[in-house]
Amino acid sequence: MENITIRPVTPADYPALLEVYRQCEDFISLGPVAKASMDMVLQDIREAKAERGIFCGVFSGPQMIGVVSNVLSTFEFRPVDAFILLLMLVPSQRSKGAGGAIVDRIEKECQGRGKVRSICCSVQVNNPAAIRFWEKKGYYKYAGPELRPDKTTVYRLRKDINRGGKSSG
Ligand SMILES: CC(C)(COP(=O)(O)OP(=O)(O)OC[C@H]1O[C@@H](n2cnc3c(N)ncnc32)[C@H](O)[C@@H]1OP(=O)(O)O)[C@@H](O)C(=O)NCCC(=O)NCCS
Repeated sequence: MENITIRPVTPADYPALLEVYRQCEDFISLGPVAKASMDMVLQDIREAKAERGIFCGVFSGPQMIGVVSNVLSTFEFRPVDAFILLLMLVPSQRSKGAGGAIVDRIEKECQGRGKVRSICCSVQVNNPAAIRFWEKKGYYKYAGPELRPDKTTVYRLRKDINRGGKSSG
């Protein structure tokens, strides 16, 4: 998926974002609110900002095909943890390597930030396809099932990075 670009969204992207969310209702409906809306989009953008994350569109040429929201370091005040808050692609673009390529890019960026030791994410227990995806990418469950305030139940997953034998922590 060499022609995939990832960049922070601007308000001009909001209509395309809403369209991506609508197409992803198969995934969204696993959560507490089944229907996509602009409110939901804006709330995810706010959540990324509150965590000092970057909310990005994923583009194939000019076409937005998904979103990825991640915190490259200092998640929940821990400078050693990066976090992927959200990764979703429209159904027609799944299972073609794009999701894996996006995760590879995030990991590469985190590897360039020497103090980041882990990349974390949460996955709903009712999303076995995503759990298989993350496990394929080398992430392992380290906590959960955990009931969250929004009534979803998640596993917490993690992949260790920047530990290549160095003991200089
Ligand atoms: C989860 C998601 C981001 C994965 O992206 P993708 O582009 O479909 O996945 P890829 O094609 O890059 O697959 C990467 C690897 O994971 C494996 N994988 C992906 N989906 C899988 C599944 N359902 N079951 C088993 N393995 C799977 C692939 O076989 C591939 O392995 P390989 O590298 O050995 O070939 C995408 O399917 C998606 O947006 N799903 C809906 C939203 C969602 O569930 N997001 C995750 C929330 S935590």
